[in-house]
Amino acid sequence: MHLEVFASADEAAARVVEMLVNRLTTKPTTVLGLPTGATPLPVYKLLIQAIDRRQCTLGQATIFNLDEYFGVGPDDPRSYAHYMRAALFDHVNHRSDRINIPNGLAEDPRAESSRYEAAISAAGGIDLMLLGLGRNGHIGFNEPGSPAMSRTRLVALTDNTLSANARYFRPDAPAPRSAITMGIATILSARQIVLLVTGQSKAEALRQTLEDPVSMQMPSSALQLHNDVVVVADSGAASKLSVADGSRKGTAGSRERAQPEAMGVRSL
Ligand code: GLP
Repeated sequence: MHLEVFASADEAAARVVEMLVNRLTTKPTTVLGLPTGATPLPVYKLLIQAIDRRQCTLGQATIFNLDEYFGVGPDDPRSYAHYMRAALFDHVNHRSDRINIPNGLAEDPRAESSRYEAAISAAGGIDLMLLGLGRNGHIGFNEPGSPAMSRTRLVALTDNTLSANARYFRPDAPAPRSAITMGIATILSARQIVLLVTGQSKAEALRQTLEDPVSMQMPSSALQLHNDVVVVADSGAASKLSVADGSRKGTAGSRERAQPEAMGVRSL
C-alpha cells in the first residue's frame, strides 16, 4: 500500500483527480469503480472542471458504481443513481449505456447481483476502483463481518451506518435499511484501488485499516491483501497513523508534479 497525506481534503481530492485524469488520458476506455458519500464530492467537482478544460473525457469510459440502496428507484432522490447524476453524470459527456449502478428495484436481488458481476467481467474488470471509507470500516456497503470472498449481493445495513448516513435523509423519506453492494472480493479484483479518506471522524477507521491485522470486523483492512492500493488522506484522517506524522517521508519529489503536494508519502 502506498499512503499520501495532504494538508486539506481539497488537496487530497485534487490528487485523486490527478490520478483519474492520468488514467483516462492514457486509456480513455478505462473501467472505473466509483463511490458515493460526502468524501468523493470534491473529486467529482474537480473532475467536471478537468473535463470542461478538456484534460480528459468520460466519453469512452465505463463506470460501475459500488452500491445502491435497495427498494428505491433511480429517480428517487435517496438513490445513489440520483446522487451520481447530480454529482457527476449530468455535468459531463458520457455514454449512458456504459454507466452501471445496481438496480435498487430489482425483484430478484440475487439475480441482479449476478448480472452486475457478469457485467463487470464482460467489461474486462475494473481498472481503477475509487473508494471512500465508512466510520466502521465499511467499503461500499460491506459492513463488519462481511466475508472476504463476498461478491455483489444484498446486505442489511448496520445501525452504525444508518446513523452515520442519517444526515442525508429527511424524516418523510427515511433511509433504506438494505443495499446491493459489490463484495470485498469484487473490490479486490480491481487492478488498482484508490482509497480516499478525509476528516478527523475517519482517523480511527483509517488507523485500523492500515495498521491493525486484517480482520473482517474492519472490512477495509482487506485492502492490505491487494498489491496496488493508493491511500490518499488529509491530515485529519491521518492524525492517528503512526506512519504519517506530518513530516515529509518517502519519495514525494520523485514524481515531478507541480501540485497537489503531499505532506507525507509512505509505502506501507
Ligand atoms: C456510504 C457508501 C460508502 C461510503 C461511505 C462513507 O455508506 N456506501 O461507499 O464510502 O458512505 O461516506 P462519507 O464519505 O459520506 O463519509
